[in-house]
Amino acid sequence: MNLSDRIKHQVDANFDELVATRRHLHSHPELSFEEFETTKFIADKLKSLGYDLQQITETGGYIDIRGENPDSKVIALRGDIDALPIHEKTDKEYASKNDGVMHACGHDVHTTCLLGAIQIIDTMKDEFEGTIRCIFQPGEERLPGGASIMIKNGVLKKPQVEKIMGQHVMPLIDVGKVGFRSGLYMASADEIYIKVIGKGGHGAHPHQNIDPVYIAAQIITQLQSVVSRHAKPSIPSVLSIGKVIANGATNIIPKEVSMEGTFRTYDEEWRNKAHKLIIKTCNETAQIHGAKCEVEVRKGYPFLKNDEDLTTQTINWAKEYLGEDNVEELELWPAGEDFAYYSQEIPASFYRLGIRNQNKFDQTMLHTPTFDIDEDALKIGAGLMAYLALRELNQ
Ligand code: NI
Repeated sequence: MNLSDRIKHQVDANFDELVATRRHLHSHPELSFEEFETTKFIADKLKSLGYDLQQITETGGYIDIRGENPDSKVIALRGDIDALPIHEKTDKEYASKNDGVMHACGHDVHTTCLLGAIQIIDTMKDEFEGTIRCIFQPGEERLPGGASIMIKNGVLKKPQVEKIMGQHVMPLIDVGKVGFRSGLYMASADEIYIKVIGKGGHGAHPHQNIDPVYIAAQIITQLQSVVSRHAKPSIPSVLSIGKVIANGATNIIPKEVSMEGTFRTYDEEWRNKAHKLIIKTCNETAQIHGAKCEVEVRKGYPFLKNDEDLTTQTINWAKEYLGEDNVEELELWPAGEDFAYYSQEIPASFYRLGIRNQNKFDQTMLHTPTFDIDEDALKIGAGLMAYLALRELNQ
C-alpha cells in the first residue's frame, strides 16, 4: 500500500475515537487563555501515546515527534484550542456544557485533527527524516494572540523550526474538499476608536453649538479616501465604521459622538502609513469645524502570507491525497488569524478544511451560535495533515 492509502486506512480505523475526542472538546469549551481543562485533556491524550506535552505558556505547549536523523530538518504543525464567548444554540447531545462559551470557530476540530495526525505519524517514525513539532496553541481569538506569545517563548526554536503548516475549518467548502491559496491570504486587522467632542445644545440653534454628528459624518466620508485615494490599487484594503453613537434627540445636538471601525490590509509598510493617515484625517476634519477629536488605532494581527514554494508543494500533495477535484483555490479572506505571526517568521502554509454537507444540515458561518460540522471532515483533517508533514520530510 502507498503512503496515502495507509494513512486513510488508519484514519478510518481511528474515526470513532476522533469523533469522541471532538465531541468531548466541543462540549467542554474554554475561553482564550483559560484553556486549563482543554490542555489537561490534550496532555492526557498525548501521554497515552507516549509523549509529554512541553508547556511553554500557561495553557499552551508542544511535542516533538522525532524520526530518523531528528536534527536534519524540523517542521511544525499547529492546532489552536480556544473557544468563543457565544451561547450555543444547537440541540446536539455534544453541545457546550459551559454556559456562554462555545467552539463556534471549529478549534475543537483543529485540536482533534492534530491529535489524530500525531497518532498516525507516531506509527511511521522510522519512515521520515527530521522532527515534526506539534503545537497546541491557546488564545487565537483574543489579542495579543497566543501565537505571538508562544513565538516569544521559543516555540519555533531549539531546534529551529524551518516551516509550519496549519488548517482551519471553512463553512463555504463541502466536506471532502480543502482550499489553498498561495501568497497573501488573510489580512491584518486593526481596530479604530474615534471620539468627536463638540458643543451640545438645542437643535434649533446649530450656530451656537459645535455639532459633532455633522463632523462625525464628514469624518466617515473622509476616511474612505484613505482606502480609495491613498492605498496602492495592488494592495487590497478595507476600512469600515461599524458603530456610531451620537445619543442626541430630534431637537438636541449631543456634545460628543463616538465611533468604532476596522482597518484591514495586506502590507506592513502601508498599514503603518494608513494608521497615520486615519489619525490625521480624523483630527484635521474635526479641527476645521472647531471640534476636538480623540483617535486610537489598536493594532491586531498582522497579515497572513502563505509561502509560495511551500504552498505549491502542499497543493500538489493535497491533490495526491484527495484527488485533483477536491482541492480548491481560495479567494483573499480579509479576516484576521494569529497564524499570521508564524507566517511572518518562517515559510508557512495555512489551508482550509471543508466541513459543509447540505444534505445533512444547514451550514451556518463561523462565530454563529448554530455552527456545526460534518464530522467526516475529521478524517480529512487528520489524514491530510499527517500526509503533508510526512511528504515534506520524505520528499
Ligand atoms: Ni478560528
